[in-house]
Amino acid sequence: METLLLDVARRTGRYLDLKRERVAPISAALDALASVSDALPPGPVDVEAIVETLDTIGSPATMRSTSGRYFGFVNGGTLPAGLVAAMFVAAWDQNAALPVMSPAAARFDQIAADWIVELLGLPSSAEATFCGGASIANLTCLVAARDAIFDNLGWDSRHDGLMGAPRLRIVSTAETHVTIDRALRVAGIGRSAVETIPTDACGRAITNATPPLDDHTIVVLQAGNVNTGHSDPFAEIIAKAHDADAWVHVDGAFGLWAAASPSRRHLVEGIELADSWATDCHKWLNVPYDSGVSILRDPSTARRSMAAGAAYLTDDEGRAPMHQGLQMSQRARGVEAWATITSLGRSGVAALVDDLSDHAARLGRLLCSEGAELLAPAVLNQALVAFGDDATTEAVIEAVQADGRIWAGGTRWQGRSAMRLSVSSHATTDADVNLSAAVIIECWRSLTTRPPDAA
Ligand SMILES: Cc1ncc(COP(=O)(O)O)c(C=O)c1O
Repeated sequence: METLLLDVARRTGRYLDLKRERVAPISAALDALASVSDALPPGPVDVEAIVETLDTIGSPATMRSTSGRYFGFVNGGTLPAGLVAAMFVAAWDQNAALPVMSPAAARFDQIAADWIVELLGLPSSAEATFCGGASIANLTCLVAARDAIFDNLGWDSRHDGLMGAPRLRIVSTAETHVTIDRALRVAGIGRSAVETIPTDACGRAITNATPPLDDHTIVVLQAGNVNTGHSDPFAEIIAKAHDADAWVHVDGAFGLWAAASPSRRHLVEGIELADSWATDCHKWLNVPYDSGVSILRDPSTARRSMAAGAAYLTDDEGRAPMHQGLQMSQRARGVEAWATITSLGRSGVAALVDDLSDHAARLGRLLCSEGAELLAPAVLNQALVAFGDDATTEAVIEAVQADGRIWAGGTRWQGRSAMRLSVSSHATTDADVNLSAAVIIECWRSLTTRPPDAA
């Protein structure tokens, strides 16, 4: 086993050290994927052969999202401490559902969860629980919110379900992430319950346009718009919501981490007043996939909705992740978060937030100095850029993706096509930012200098 793992360590180490010019795989690497047989092996295959396939065919066909020049979606990189912790997690193969299943998982999980609450400046009563990602965290929080509101209205949704239940209202903006819409559908609330708060040019809720709130309402706010990185104004809206006995949930998949930086915390001022929060460690914190976190101000609300008791499941040893979230069996995700936060410390987490935000802002400035247009001020790790009309912007995105030295995706923003540059990896350096801006400009110029018949 040791020989096998040393071989894998050597191969994956080489993969990570290799300074590839391209972030996107070359076409030969994509073609080679066809050689991975889709015929079910009739019998066992040696693990050495499996390692060979993963290394020689799998690795070259990966998107280098861990590189400093990958700006797609909000896909975070991986810090070394998280990677090595993930190797231990895989080797240990612990089920973190209950402390009795793994004292080690339980201890690291507890510490990491408490640190996340502390780093984000949330109330000390709040409890964080690891899960697969912000989608699941949003769902967990919204189900807890739904059931807590029903409890206050005298309806036991855990026993009686949703048929005949009082109507719930969801107050949010049209800028909420798609995973909120899905969570509302899955939670049996449905999108017809949504009343929208109008937004400004950066995608933030306009406070004084908030509809009247009441005790049937869940207000869903956002820290970090997926396109612009801007956050809703929390303090005033949350105060209004609490005056009306409404619940406030914040989706802060990446933007919540602004709270961990003294110089960026003002962007999410008042966020600590909410009732629940969803975030990710696999985005901004650069923990390996998958690692999301649901956080409840009053942990008993999550437990009331999620607890799953059976005679064989001990329930008396303190914090039990399976009773606070949707999953029973689960990887020991807290170990990777613990290792990553330990390696950074409080100051390192703040520096990570600041560095990625500074890189995004500088990338935006470099592109603007060449004539591109920033569609919203770059305040966090997102720069949203247009290159003239929609057709040109879309052509630049296509050209950049075909070039392969960097990777950035597209989006629509307030009726316009835009390139999204999401700086989400600790690996990004000033040199990466310079080169990336140069590649984008080169791709843009190559379009405009092309002879008309070649267009
Ligand atoms: C604001 C926001 N919410 C939720 C999500 C979903 O997160 P996950 O993919 O971890 O489920 C994302 C992903 O980009 C996001 O940006």
